[in-house]
Amino acid sequence: MAKIVVLTGAGISAESGIRTFRASDGLWEDHRIEDVATPEGWLRNPILVHRFYNMRRKAAAEATPNPAHLALAALEGDPRHEVLIVTQNVDDLHERAGSQRVIHMHGTLTGALCHACGFRWPAPPEMHHTDACPACGAHTTRPDIVWFGEMPYRMEEIWSALRAADLFVSIGTSGNVYPAAGFVQDASRAGAETLELNLDPSTGSDWFDEARHGPASELVPQWVREICS
Ligand code: APR
Repeated sequence: MAKIVVLTGAGISAESGIRTFRASDGLWEDHRIEDVATPEGWLRNPILVHRFYNMRRKAAAEATPNPAHLALAALEGDPRHEVLIVTQNVDDLHERAGSQRVIHMHGTLTGALCHACGFRWPAPPEMHHTDACPACGAHTTRPDIVWFGEMPYRMEEIWSALRAADLFVSIGTSGNVYPAAGFVQDASRAGAETLELNLDPSTGSDWFDEARHGPASELVPQWVREICS
């Protein structure tokens, strides 16, 4: 059975209507990344940060999986392939498409985390800076999202899957944020074939054995059809 590790980024959810990050003006939904995606930004202005993630949580809940998410779920159902999705996305569109083996290395919008005691629980549709942690009672609740300067989740598990992979496929990511941007080299060094499926060449596009460029909703179903035929 071929072992496939699929890395996904914002580009796979773009056609579901969820905006990607790296707009040319360097802003993210009109906010500076330092203000809304760092622990320092949250400590400075938790009201703004909760408002920002409440809006993103609502947008994600209203979005639906597109043909790229659905094709990956179908691939997982094929008995000839063992598929692990490692996503940088905080939406749950892979799960809603039917994928079961998904690692959210940058956390999820559906999770809440206590910054004081580390307790985790399902996030309500709207979080507020006045919410108390159900475990310790502190008013230090935050979205369970990995911000810049923080360690992504489940890295040991991810590296071990990359070392064992026969094929590594990167979908819809600009290749700007490490450690995910380095996965292609990790997998390649360990002997995997590597494939990029992205709208345009990513920063590390040359590191892939093969790169195909176009919208994920077309490229991903086409690739899945090829390897399942
Ligand atoms: N199909 C395929 N690729 C697409 C599509 C599409 N329809 N639309 C956009 N893309 C590509 C873009 O060309 C770009 O290369 O998706 C990529 C999105 O890049 P980013 O916005 O940088 O997103 P991502 O790589 O996931 O960002 C990584 O950075 O801000 C942090 O934590 C955040 O997880 C995020 C991380």
